[in-house]
Amino acid sequence: MLKDKTLAVLGAGKLGETMIRALIEAGAVDRGRVIATARHPETVEARVKAYGIRGTTDNREAASNADVVLISVKPQQMAEALASIQGAVRHQLVVSTATGVTTDFIERGLGDSVPVVRTMPNTPCLLRAGMTAIAAGTHARREHVAVAEAVFGAMGRTRVVDERHMDAVTGLSGSGPAFMYVVLEALAEGGVKMGLPRETATELIAQTMLGAARMVLETREHPAKLKDIVTTPAGCTIDGLLELEEGGLRVALIKAVVKATQRAAQLGGRTP
Ligand SMILES: NC(=O)c1ccc[n+]([C@@H]2O[C@H](COP(=O)([O-])OP(=O)(O)OC[C@H]3O[C@@H](n4cnc5c(N)ncnc54)[C@H](OP(=O)(O)O)[C@@H]3O)[C@@H](O)[C@H]2O)c1
Repeated sequence: MLKDKTLAVLGAGKLGETMIRALIEAGAVDRGRVIATARHPETVEARVKAYGIRGTTDNREAASNADVVLISVKPQQMAEALASIQGAVRHQLVVSTATGVTTDFIERGLGDSVPVVRTMPNTPCLLRAGMTAIAAGTHARREHVAVAEAVFGAMGRTRVVDERHMDAVTGLSGSGPAFMYVVLEALAEGGVKMGLPRETATELIAQTMLGAARMVLETREHPAKLKDIVTTPAGCTIDGLLELEEGGLRVALIKAVVKATQRAAQLGGRTP
């Protein structure tokens, strides 16, 4: 789907670079048809050297010659980036990764009836194990969303959502890796407390978390049902679960998502 498309990555920073690398490694794009931009010429040079792509500090030049314009600048840099390509983008699909920046804001910044798709990826995209939520703007049609799905599908899973859910997505799968690291680290500490070497404990629980996540995704069973299968009556697991309930783990995790969602809305200038 992307093979015959020219891709401009405006803002080839951490996420921009991840996208370039993942798409090239997955063979989804032709490196000769990728052009990266950044604010500093050193950043552009580094990407050109590392990936054999083209590069420029001129957003307008990059966007004019592209079919798909991926914008991956910080939210506060978005207005300036949009101004730099205004008028140069008409038929191109614009895909944004900027946290909290609405399709409405991007559409107004670009003018015309530009198709815009907003996305929210997360850091495991680095290992092609990411989760990206995708929301269509006013002028984005099914085929535009399909292009975004192909881009982020090269870095993991994708899910199309209504844009009104994007703050919740930010608070769940965007912040989620950090929440999971805390849970993982705490469980490993439990292993250490019980005498396991730290490295062993961390490996045991990291693979367990990966396996549990795959069980949910691949069996499509409700997590509670999968939990019940592990929980033998009067066995060990039920004693551990009781401690989790007493410690308020569920409530703490639910509140973490609520707070992170509210903060995402606040940062985007919306009422949570
Ligand atoms: N990192 C993640 O995992 C992640 C996950 C979800 C969403 N996001 C969102 O994705 C966006 C990028 O995040 P990031 O972590 O990759 O940030 P970053 O590392 O700071 O990258 C931003 C890049 O934009 C470039 N830039 C700044 N102003 C520009 C302009 N006017 N024109 C062209 N390039 C410009 C910067 O160039 P220089 O390097 O030369 O300064 C930098 O390379 C943010 O909006 C963030 O909220 C990131």
